[in-house]
Amino acid sequence: MRAPYWVLGYEVNGKLFGKRSNDVFEIDGVRFYTIFEDADTKVLSHLKDAAKFGELEIMDPNEIIPFIAAQLNSSISLLTLLKRIQHSICSILSAEAASILVHAGDHLEFLVTEGGASGKIESIPVPMESIAGTIFLEDRTMIFNDLMKDKRHFKGVDKAAKFVTRNILGSPIWTGERKFGVIEVLNKEGGFTEEDAKLLEKFARLIGRKLYSTITGDRMKKLIKEIVLAITSTIDKRDKYTHEHSRNVARISVMLGRKLRLSERELEDLEVSAMLHDVGKIGIPDSILLKPGKLTPEEFEYIKNHTVFGAEILSKLKHATDNMISGALEHHEKLDGSGYPYGKKNGEISLFGRIVAVADIYDALTAKRVYKKEWTKEKVLNVLKEEAEKGKLDRKVVEKLEELVKEGAL
Ligand SMILES: [Fe+2]
Repeated sequence: MRAPYWVLGYEVNGKLFGKRSNDVFEIDGVRFYTIFEDADTKVLSHLKDAAKFGELEIMDPNEIIPFIAAQLNSSISLLTLLKRIQHSICSILSAEAASILVHAGDHLEFLVTEGGASGKIESIPVPMESIAGTIFLEDRTMIFNDLMKDKRHFKGVDKAAKFVTRNILGSPIWTGERKFGVIEVLNKEGGFTEEDAKLLEKFARLIGRKLYSTITGDRMKKLIKEIVLAITSTIDKRDKYTHEHSRNVARISVMLGRKLRLSERELEDLEVSAMLHDVGKIGIPDSILLKPGKLTPEEFEYIKNHTVFGAEILSKLKHATDNMISGALEHHEKLDGSGYPYGKKNGEISLFGRIVAVADIYDALTAKRVYKKEWTKEKVLNVLKEEAEKGKLDRKVVEKLEELVKEGAL
């Protein structure tokens, strides 16, 4: 019986077949070593009987690599892709860490995932005289097993990341036509071998195209986000909000969405929807929006149109989803039907509308404004909880907000 590609080895009665990894699953006396942390334990329990007799055949790492590369094609965000690349190559090569650097003019820079060294190393330019630079310029896979003696080792990164690099195996990354970066695997007990070098090279060749397109897509997304925020921040300022209001509502909405277990794609849509929730204020004349003092009932009625104007603007965008449009249209609706523009009730208001509503109120009340002092988080939370109690705001969303405040995330 042949094991799936993601099983690197197993141990039964003290005997090891294949190799170990950091992701261990013990099933009925059999220890399975896998490539990913989220291995399918159901599959493993089907394999355990064959494993007990030592009859489970492990694939050769050379054969495994194309499977992993193919699997990576399904991931969407750059962050997820990087994490999977780093995790799987470390498992296969029994290395402690992996990093990816991209060429940027006269230096290389790190692409970083969350945690560990993130926030500390991405801003450090890695010189072309470094080991990564040498691998890039010489355009070949190289092993450096004795870093103590190698002057090219750039210590700036180790220092910033509080990491000690003992050995490095690195390979250039190509899209097919264009060389754009380097993948490095660090710290293998006993040093890297020629066999490891061949495996990494094969891996680098197979992931290049996907990685490059994801990096480019990610840059484009960031650029679009910045443009949108530049526009919304001018709208926020015009409305006496802090210029950060739309950005904050987007950030809080995404945190709430994550707590509510939305998918990565839904979170991206939610972020756009929340960033643009008040974009319709563009259609409200200065005479109303900037009016000092109290608004007449007619003027207030007119301001309510910003939800409809916003939805109209979004609905003209070819790639805007229904969810995105609902977030802008429904962020002032209340579950008891007392909101606007349509007085929709619970069950009729989209999840995006309910999330953005809570994030909007939270940011508006905690923010300092020209005409009012900021309220404390606790006070705002109490207001939101009361509103949920009265059946106006979504109770579940407010609960998640309370969790975020308690965790110190807000
Ligand atoms: Fe609004």
